[in-house]
Amino acid sequence: MKVAVIGAGLMGSGIAQTFAQAGYEVTNIDTFPASLEKAGANVARLFEKKVAKGKLTEEEKKKILGRLTYSGNMEDVKGAALIVEAVPENMELKKSVFATVDGLADPDSILVSNTSGLSISEIAAATKRPNKVMGAHFFYPAPVMKLLELIRGIATDDKTYETMKEIAKQIGKTTVDAPELPGFMVNRILVPMQNEAAFMVMEGCKPEDVDNAMKLGCNFPMGPLELTDFVGVDIMLGTMKGLYSGFSDSKYRPCPLLENMVKAGRLGKKSGQGFYRYDENGNKVG
Ligand code: 3HC
Repeated sequence: MKVAVIGAGLMGSGIAQTFAQAGYEVTNIDTFPASLEKAGANVARLFEKKVAKGKLTEEEKKKILGRLTYSGNMEDVKGAALIVEAVPENMELKKSVFATVDGLADPDSILVSNTSGLSISEIAAATKRPNKVMGAHFFYPAPVMKLLELIRGIATDDKTYETMKEIAKQIGKTTVDAPELPGFMVNRILVPMQNEAAFMVMEGCKPEDVDNAMKLGCNFPMGPLELTDFVGVDIMLGTMKGLYSGFSDSKYRPCPLLENMVKAGRLGKKSGQGFYRYDENGNKVG
């Protein structure tokens, strides 16, 4: 079975890798050549590390990478039974991608969005096959995190949902049925916590204290601020804004410090600075 993943950013490239590791032929499509180059280099580096650690043989690595191709041409969705969209969280952009893909993809193909909280029904309405559209929300890093949130739009049919659930099992993910509401399930709980952590820094707490509190007090693998840097301050703020506007509830008010950090270009690990500083290899330096 062939899969196409649209978007070669942090999520898209990880999702493409996940499918390739599970034995699927995958094309990762992005209209920005620089994103494709970066995605290819990152995945290759990751697999080299796995070989060096003895977790994978050189031959296994070659096989997996051989199933993964990169393309700048949307026409390459043709022949894919499943198309996963992972472009930035912008409704107009997502609708335009879905309209284009709908016109090119095989009539039976299933189209899923990796949106972290936008309306699946609205995205589906941009296509002529809303019954074959649903949400499948991966978590970062996609090859590692075991969860896949499944979100049905108003028109999603049972066959599409059941097929996606089966595919999720084949790629080693456990699914939960999340409601079609802003933030779905995980982000509705997780992101307000990250937002609250940012408020504490704004009020004068040290980032490392806030993170240590949650790591040592709750056994979190990463503190909420480390996680914000890891996923991207802009991405986290975008999700918080989605909760605020989606529920029209002041309890989701985004922390002004996050707004200022994004305006200043402090986007976290990917820009070299967020709540912490990072070297060019992404290692924390302060
Ligand atoms: N991409 C792919 N694989 C990665 C990776 C990445 N960015 N980072 C780490 N990995 C892999 C490593 O290759 C390694 O695999 P291996 O065991 O086969 O060698 C494995 O993960 C473990 O990595 P490390 O030993 O280097 O590091 P840790 O044991 O410290 O684990 C972690 C790293 C899995 C990221 C762990 O710190 C963790 O679970 N953090 C929390 C992540 C989290 O909460 N994610 C959810 C984010 S919210 C979200 O995604 C919502 C969305 O809408 C944005």
